[in-house]
Amino acid sequence: MEHIALPSIVVLDFGSQYTQLIARRIREQNVFSVVLPCTAKLDEIRGYNPVGIILSGGPCSVYDVDAPPADPEVLKLGLPVLGICYGLQFMTHTLGGTVHAASKREYGHAEVTVLESSALFVGLPETLSVWMSHGDEADTLAPGFRLVARTTSAVAAIENVAAGYYAVQFHPEVHHTKFGTSLLKNFVFGICKAQPSWTPQRFIDSTIAQIRETVGEGRALCAISGGVDSSVAATLVHRAIGDRLTCVFVNNGVLRKDEYAKVQHNLRTKLKLNIDAVDATDRFLSKLAGVSDPERKRKIIGNEFIEVFDEESQRIKREYGEVQWLVQGTLYPDVIESVSVRGPSVTIKSHHNVGGLPAKMKLKLIEPLRDLFKDEVRRIGRDLQMPDEMLQRQPFPGPGLAVRILGEVTPERIALLQEADDIVLTEIKRAGLYDQIWQSFAVLLPVMSVGVMGDQRTYAYTCAIRAVTSEDGMTADWVPLPHEVLKAISSRIVNEVPGINRVVYDITSKPPGTIEWE
Ligand code: XMP
Repeated sequence: MEHIALPSIVVLDFGSQYTQLIARRIREQNVFSVVLPCTAKLDEIRGYNPVGIILSGGPCSVYDVDAPPADPEVLKLGLPVLGICYGLQFMTHTLGGTVHAASKREYGHAEVTVLESSALFVGLPETLSVWMSHGDEADTLAPGFRLVARTTSAVAAIENVAAGYYAVQFHPEVHHTKFGTSLLKNFVFGICKAQPSWTPQRFIDSTIAQIRETVGEGRALCAISGGVDSSVAATLVHRAIGDRLTCVFVNNGVLRKDEYAKVQHNLRTKLKLNIDAVDATDRFLSKLAGVSDPERKRKIIGNEFIEVFDEESQRIKREYGEVQWLVQGTLYPDVIESVSVRGPSVTIKSHHNVGGLPAKMKLKLIEPLRDLFKDEVRRIGRDLQMPDEMLQRQPFPGPGLAVRILGEVTPERIALLQEADDIVLTEIKRAGLYDQIWQSFAVLLPVMSVGVMGDQRTYAYTCAIRAVTSEDGMTADWVPLPHEVLKAISSRIVNEVPGINRVVYDITSKPPGTIEWE
């Protein structure tokens, strides 16, 4: 792929929860960056044409028996290396210094004093407020290294300029570290001499050319939801092969109010895509009848979707001829092979996306976004002149409203939730908050309570409102929505949605909650 030949910064992952952020911060500077496991072979690393290497943080100690087995030769590629947190300890330990367990674990904010002038700290103040998260610290520095910055209790930055080695104990990639991006820019541009050549337009041009070459005269299918990822992926492929791409949009009966019509309209008129809309509401709802268990609901919707899509693809093949390719909006975070230092994690929810399709349908995959983070997808979308309304759309889960209706999913409950959800979104947009919130929605609870309206007793459902901010959906904070907005939402729902007589607000972050209720 053309962009892989672009000079890059290779980030070697030692298992830190912040590793992906390092690559994102560098790409924000228009320099290509990839994340590879710390066990990556030297040839693989060289294949990315690196101009510098970053060693990430990680949860282990260099002395642990199960410390990640990185190849010390990565330090001898003749490239500048920046070690971050565990990366500093790995460099120190590997190059002949010592590391010990800190008497006091440093976690959270710390003050760092810069002692020496250094290419890494050019243009930064002498005292920095940084984010620390470590149990071990460097003790004796490796030969050739000097101390560049420290906190009151520990080594904060070291360097061996002649060898091109730099390392910091804190995390410049997290936004709590003031001037962290400036420090990374100093490494990338000042020390590695990288050029800002990774631009959206370059990505678009090379991706379209590459898809054209790969697909040739072939045909492709895409499962489209109206969400950002599938819409941008489809638009790129459409620019390459035109109407030989058919986008299948399935109504699973648990979409939001008017969404089936609105999404079709937008995709056809604004993106000019070739849309095959399939209303499979009855099939999905009859399979969901009587089912309350969250995981069973998810499985039913996932399986039924594959069935519907497969049948539709057979029909398209009969009508237009053979189809060889399937377009998917897979993003980079799903592709990065994470270093599992704690063993496989438990399944909290089985996510339904289009992952099950290729195996069943024996199609080859086109994944034009597999090198991109979500914010980069939005940038590409903007350069493709896609409307903001589509690019800023809040994420909506594959199983739709079914995971927001607790208990059985019935047509009556879907209709209630569609109305309540529409009110939530309308009021959040009216208050100008939609773009600042990761997701905002209503949840229908199977809890009936007594109320009074116009002197009449009511006995009806409860609706919960959820609004969260998040960077990637992995963690989330609940949003302290202004009381005026909550008041408008609550009063409209109880007045305009007969069947709901009580509204509550969910004030749970993730963890320990999840974003969706099921
Ligand atoms: P949870 O509820 O696990 O959600 O905190 C994290 C993010 O993932 C979305 N989500 C899904 N997206 N298929 C999807 O495509 C799914 O099955 C699914 N389940 C949850 C959720 O909306 C949130 O953004």
